[in-house]
Amino acid sequence: MPTPGDSISVPKHIAIIMDGNGRWAKERGLKRSDGHRAGAESVRECVEICKELGVEFLTLYAFSVENWKRPKTEIASLMTLLERFLKDKTPELNEKDVRLQAIGRLNDIPPKTLRQLHRSIEETSDNSGLTLILALSYGGREEIIDGIKSILHHVEEGHIDRAMIDPDLFSKHLYTRYYPDPDLLIRTSGEMRVSNFLLWQISYAEMVVTKKYWPEFRKDDLREAIVEYSRRQRRYGAI
Ligand code: IPE
Ligand code: IPE
Ligand code: MG
Repeated sequence: MPTPGDSISVPKHIAIIMDGNGRWAKERGLKRSDGHRAGAESVRECVEICKELGVEFLTLYAFSVENWKRPKTEIASLMTLLERFLKDKTPELNEKDVRLQAIGRLNDIPPKTLRQLHRSIEETSDNSGLTLILALSYGGREEIIDGIKSILHHVEEGHIDRAMIDPDLFSKHLYTRYYPDPDLLIRTSGEMRVSNFLLWQISYAEMVVTKKYWPEFRKDDLREAIVEYSRRQRRYGAI
């Protein structure tokens, strides 16, 4: 197991599909909301270890556009949990020099939660250590559609000529335009799918899927995933 300073290649950007809160709770005879609450501690630990190892960007899939299909009570408890988490943890983010960002169709988020999100983003905006990006009401397809609309608008205004449209330019019209693509994509709870997460950006990400449920995924598990990443040979189509 590496400790800071060991020579492993640390990914610049890690993206995580945090899955399995509900199943974790069910197996323990608890409510789904208890699973989400337990998952918040995993978030804390992952932020901490990313900071220690020098990861620059951590994107967490916290709520998908598809998750609006869940029962109203579960959505409400998730939004309340998010709001409370942001409120409680913002001082700690500042202590750790973590800058908070968010991607997704944020205007769909309930006003009270959204206000806290904006407050936390604002209060951590001067930090220059790890950038923690929460994907909220996020969908990869929706992001691509929003990107196309943004490009069309610029074409209509005469700022972009269609000959200029290439992958680099397109990337600059996505929610993630300020961040590099993820190097490592992790999914917990064993599901082998991407569930509409960062579809454009993960084209060359290394994937690690673990059977552990998100509330069980802690510091050492993230370290282990980074070691696994470190062993991979990234070829990008070359030999
Ligand atoms: C992940 O856990 C959290 C969110 C998607 C918000 P789930 O709630 O999907 O838990 P499972 O997959 O039902 O176990
Ligand atoms: C993916 O988990 C979305 C988040 C982690 C926020 P889901 O539980 O919603 O995904 P599916 O339904 O198993 O594909
Ligand atoms: Mg799930």
